[in-house]
Amino acid sequence: MAIIAPDIGMDIGTANTRVYVKKKGVVIDEPSLLVVDRNGRHAIRAIGEEARTLAGRTASDVMEVRPLSDGMIRDFDMTQYMLQYFVRKAIGASRLVKPRAIITIPCRVSPIERRAVKRAAVYAGVRSGENQLFLIEKPFASALGLGLPVFDAVGSMVVDIGGGTCEAAVISLGGVVASRSIRMGGIKMDEEIIAYVKREFNMVIGERTAEDVKVSLGAALPLKEERRVLVRGRDMITRLPQTAELSSTRVYEALQGPCNAILSAIEHVLSRTPPELLGDIMRSGIHLTGGGSQLFGLDQFIAQELQMPVLLAREPNNSAALGVGHLADNIELLHRIGKSSFLREDGEE
Ligand SMILES: Nc1ncnc2c1ncn2[C@@H]1O[C@H](COP(=O)(O)OP(=O)(O)OP(=O)(O)O)[C@@H](O)[C@H]1O
Ligand SMILES: [Mg+2]
Repeated sequence: MAIIAPDIGMDIGTANTRVYVKKKGVVIDEPSLLVVDRNGRHAIRAIGEEARTLAGRTASDVMEVRPLSDGMIRDFDMTQYMLQYFVRKAIGASRLVKPRAIITIPCRVSPIERRAVKRAAVYAGVRSGENQLFLIEKPFASALGLGLPVFDAVGSMVVDIGGGTCEAAVISLGGVVASRSIRMGGIKMDEEIIAYVKREFNMVIGERTAEDVKVSLGAALPLKEERRVLVRGRDMITRLPQTAELSSTRVYEALQGPCNAILSAIEHVLSRTPPELLGDIMRSGIHLTGGGSQLFGLDQFIAQELQMPVLLAREPNNSAALGVGHLADNIELLHRIGKSSFLREDGEE
């Protein structure tokens, strides 16, 4: 009996990778992270969730590797190992059974970057060749995952704020009408908090501490009641452990740069959107999704600045994966997607 591999959808993110298996749903949702030996051979100790558990608690002979940055592959080999691990874990089948795959990519990446994603996926064990491997622009996938009417003659706007990228797009009739992709997301917000603590307290805090501060205290609007949190780090001069008390007001100030950059990206897209579609968006609102969209008050900040309705996704972490997953479940829909947001395997290899 022939074993047929299920189609899969993959959302390869800077911070997290998700794999959707046809008819099963999102079965992998793990950090895009590896822990490897620091010596020349870079033997892999752990990938994904296991790597997160291990990271920060290991001896100095290992290091963490994030193979993607700004939504793009930076370390090809590590990306390939990571994807191979996720694909095998997702389909739980032998190497002989290769799935068809639909994979997200940032808007307007170069042909070289597209090829890198495809090559990494093929090495990781998905099928190659015509009608086997499809790349879909991230905001289109997110819009589909949110259940927006992407194939209808109406305009929908989606803003996907991830770890490394913010992609704003207007979608209509199965294609992206206008889009803007900036290297701005949750990781940059963490970096702003790290920089603020350095300036104010001469103290270095870790990336995870900064992320915790962002989630617990960070906001795009000033909080009604100021809150404070204690953080631990290293004094930059004495190099000894130090503690500092951060206020929500100062964290809010540190996050204004990223929030304004996201707002500018949205304004840029709106300024290039045809008037009829603008009317649709005024009515149905701007849909925010991606992990970074959960920054407290970001939806309200954008709504106030633009005087437009803004809706936060119910499952912001999974929109793009649910979108490519919907295509895996309904492969015939691929034929209805316009050329701009749908990049068929086209003999680029
Ligand atoms: N409650 C929250 N408030 C603010 N930020 C959050 C919250 N929860 C998660 N995040 C941030 O969301 C980011 C991850 O989002 P997501 O998983 O959508 O990114 P990604 O898809 O891997 O990245 P990209 O699409 O940019 O390549 C992280 O930077 C994380 O800190
Ligand atoms: Mg993403």
